Amino acid sequence: MVHWYKIEHADFLKNQGISEHKFGGKIICITWFEDQLYAFSRKCPHAGAPLKNGWCERGKVICPFHRHEFDLISGRGNPEQHDFITIYPIKFEDKDYYVGLEIGFWQRFFA
Ligand code: FES
Repeated sequence: MVHWYKIEHADFLKNQGISEHKFGGKIICITWFEDQLYAFSRKCPHAGAPLKNGWCERGKVICPFHRHEFDLISGRGNPEQHDFITIYPIKFEDKDYYVGLEIGFWQRFFA
């Protein structure tokens, strides 16, 4: 089951680079890239680098440690990398942005 969490002050995140946010006990990264808001994994799957210290270009987030690249829409790494990150869905509703995260059975009662 997906629970939608409101992203507070999403517009203020423009030009802020990648930042970490906590939703339902889970920390994820959020960034704007070319007027689109994206949400994705906190850590790089290669060696655990914090992706908040990376940057975006050509529709990809670049890891700051060894430059692995991940597509901002699919989460796929470049073919030679054999890795991927999780991309979380974003929706815009009633002037606010929301990010969707899967929650477990018991979390439904506390989300
Ligand atoms: S830790 Fe991200 S590329 Fe190595």
